[in-house]
Amino acid sequence: MGDGLRRGARAFEFLFGVALLVAASACSSGSGGSGETTSAVAGSMGTTTTSTGTTGSTATSASSNSTSGGGGPSSSGSEGSTSAGGTTTTAAASTTGSGGSGGSGGGADEVYPFPANAPDEDGSSLWLRYPELPIPERLAEYRAGLTHVVGSGASPTLQIAEAELVRGLSGLTGSELTLSPELTGAGAVVVGTPESSSVVAGLGDRLAALGSEGYLVEALDVGGQAAIVVAANTDIGALYGSFALLRHLQSHRGLDGLSLTSAPKIKLRLLDHWDNLDGSIERGYAGRSLWNWSALPGTVSPRYTEYARANASIGINGAVLNNVNADAEILTSAYLEKVKALADVFRPYGIKVYLTARFSAPLEIGGQSTADPADSGVQGWWQEKVEEIYGLIPDFGGFLVKANSEGQPGPGDYGRTHADGANMLADALEPFGGIVMWRAFVYSDETPSDRIRQAYDEFKPLDGQFRENVMVQAKNGALDFQPREPFHPLFGGMPQTPIALELQVTKEYLGEDTHLAYLGPLYEEVLSADTYAEGEGSSVARVVDGTVYGHALSAMAGVANVGSDANWTGSHMNQANWYVFGRLAWDPDASSRELAAEWVRQTFSNDPLVVGPVADMLQMSRQALVDYMTPLGLVHIMATDHHYGPGPWVNDLDRDDWNPTYYHRADADGIGFDRTASGSNAIEQYFTPVRDMFSSRESVPEDFLLFFHRVSWQDTLASGRSVWEELVYRYSHGVDQVGVMRDTWAGVEQRIDAERFGEVAEFLQIQHWEARWWRDACLQYFGQVAGLALPSGYAEPANALGFYQGLDCPADATKPRCDPIYSGEPSPAILP
Ligand code: GCU
Repeated sequence: MGDGLRRGARAFEFLFGVALLVAASACSSGSGGSGETTSAVAGSMGTTTTSTGTTGSTATSASSNSTSGGGGPSSSGSEGSTSAGGTTTTAAASTTGSGGSGGSGGGADEVYPFPANAPDEDGSSLWLRYPELPIPERLAEYRAGLTHVVGSGASPTLQIAEAELVRGLSGLTGSELTLSPELTGAGAVVVGTPESSSVVAGLGDRLAALGSEGYLVEALDVGGQAAIVVAANTDIGALYGSFALLRHLQSHRGLDGLSLTSAPKIKLRLLDHWDNLDGSIERGYAGRSLWNWSALPGTVSPRYTEYARANASIGINGAVLNNVNADAEILTSAYLEKVKALADVFRPYGIKVYLTARFSAPLEIGGQSTADPADSGVQGWWQEKVEEIYGLIPDFGGFLVKANSEGQPGPGDYGRTHADGANMLADALEPFGGIVMWRAFVYSDETPSDRIRQAYDEFKPLDGQFRENVMVQAKNGALDFQPREPFHPLFGGMPQTPIALELQVTKEYLGEDTHLAYLGPLYEEVLSADTYAEGEGSSVARVVDGTVYGHALSAMAGVANVGSDANWTGSHMNQANWYVFGRLAWDPDASSRELAAEWVRQTFSNDPLVVGPVADMLQMSRQALVDYMTPLGLVHIMATDHHYGPGPWVNDLDRDDWNPTYYHRADADGIGFDRTASGSNAIEQYFTPVRDMFSSRESVPEDFLLFFHRVSWQDTLASGRSVWEELVYRYSHGVDQVGVMRDTWAGVEQRIDAERFGEVAEFLQIQHWEARWWRDACLQYFGQVAGLALPSGYAEPANALGFYQGLDCPADATKPRCDPIYSGEPSPAILP
């Protein structure tokens, strides 16, 4: 809408006066734990930090004892506890906090009725569901306090913010709210910037700290009327603030003293799509690519808008549209028109488009005779290509490049360095404000002494040689998105180069579509790891957000898990990984446990009997998976190519470092990869004291024992068990933890819709069988190599080793299943 409307709104606000009484200023403030400073969250969602680093500590945080929910029509209690059915979940014991309802008049003490016949949901609404509040007092409070939305419609982004507020508030209150240019009484929700709203302009200095993307959401008295103001310096900040307000309300929290302030700590928060132009997705388990290239640019699917909206709701501000194993065709004029169509949809949601650039594109589509970055014809070709892109997409973000890795072309083909290659592209992008994200996931044609050394050895000497608009993008660990790896030594290792953190959201090595593995604890573990680059406190988060070395550029990229499936991510639970990635990219210091609860509230229910148990289940899931797949620092023992199912015995692939046996090195004497000074000495890539901690057998965390050390089977661990006994224990414990998760989920039946309940239950059953498959296959194999039998007290493997070695699964790598192992009761693996 135009300026006339904006002027009208400002005139009316002026009538009310701009003497704003900042109601919230009288309130105490505390940390919401999810990136916001909030004063209305009296008891934020649990202060528990469930340990993510130590097996066993999460052992029983969600109990098989959880309520069946069948005992009555209602229940009460704080998040995670239950009084229904006379049982108490142990989840309650690990969840302090009041249930997060906060504010006055309810929350923790609210009684949530069973949602009688909750309508089935297919998951397509993600966490952006706005069902009417089922608790009368809070509903009455919302109906009185949220009566109309006031906005200027001054830009497409503000129009989106206003429409989202109208939609969300109408849904939550069960009454149709209207959008108005002016306040028409109490309960206004005013959204805008100083330019679009005099109410917001009246906040003056208070907006200064919000920067270009932050927001302030506050309960204020505007001219004698209670109102809520969503304020920001920019339109996109106002949209982020609108989603923050809706999140607060979706969590059924009070309005009194509402005050939320937040600004992102990381500048570029990106999803990297590994989508191919033929519609397939590398490591995608959620259907086909969202991008319908053959229909674009003529047909623009409404799903693109939904995608942008979901990303904006969690603060994601960039998307790399295509696979790192790039196809040069994306850079042809015909494809750039298609890319432009997507960029036009994403722009008002604050999302910039990026592309992967195939280094040999000048040869393949440019008619050049070389792709040598030192060649002036090649340089000119890239400059023209970049000009063409910016002519279509003025806010194009830049290029992501995988070069000289896994067969991809790169500057090394011409005897040039990664810096030479990156700088050539950076020079072409620089006049337009674009950047290069040059990946450090290098994996050369020759087998190195130790593959995990390679990225650091290759990139460290180049520090200081990259242009200012180049970032080096490293995966969280030096190997490859394993269930657990130590942090990559490049974090902190290249002081003069901004390092972007690449995380995998799609679960290539973590059970793919079916397994519940909430990645929040994995991300949190990496972000909070201290590199000691500049002494204590130089965490990966501080390196990535630029504060350790004072870099202006900062980025976190998540390899996307979205596709064309109705539920977007292949399973309902995988949505939590998209969500937590975005929220942690906004605030890398947020708590994964609190974000889990936040997601559950929006996605399933605010019923404490759902929030606590399900959030605890999410939180324990990744450790359970590490236990049943790769305990004690084992890595890369998945089956070949598809990485689905166990394959620790594989040793016949062409290259040493493609074989699981290369990574675990098990033989009759012992197991593990010696990366200390007596071995590959990869530990030298870390700063002291991290190096010393990993180096010493005494101080190495047991979760990384076999990653850094080779030990005998009889070596004794902190538990008093031998390495072999500990492996048996952890593999078995992991299986039984999935049993706990399965039973916990059974407890929420009838508290959520039957469709999603049933689908999650089915996947948990598959996960339980597959966990047992992993455990039985790995223990059979390692036991045979070690010449050791299972200690007493554990269930015997269901089949002989040959059975597991002979399995031919999956038939379809995009929806992997293994029918021959789907039978029997997987637990207990540790006998009672
Ligand atoms: C892994 C993954 C590949 C991917 C590569 C990368 O190796 O299996 O599919 O291309 O990572 O990150 O480049």
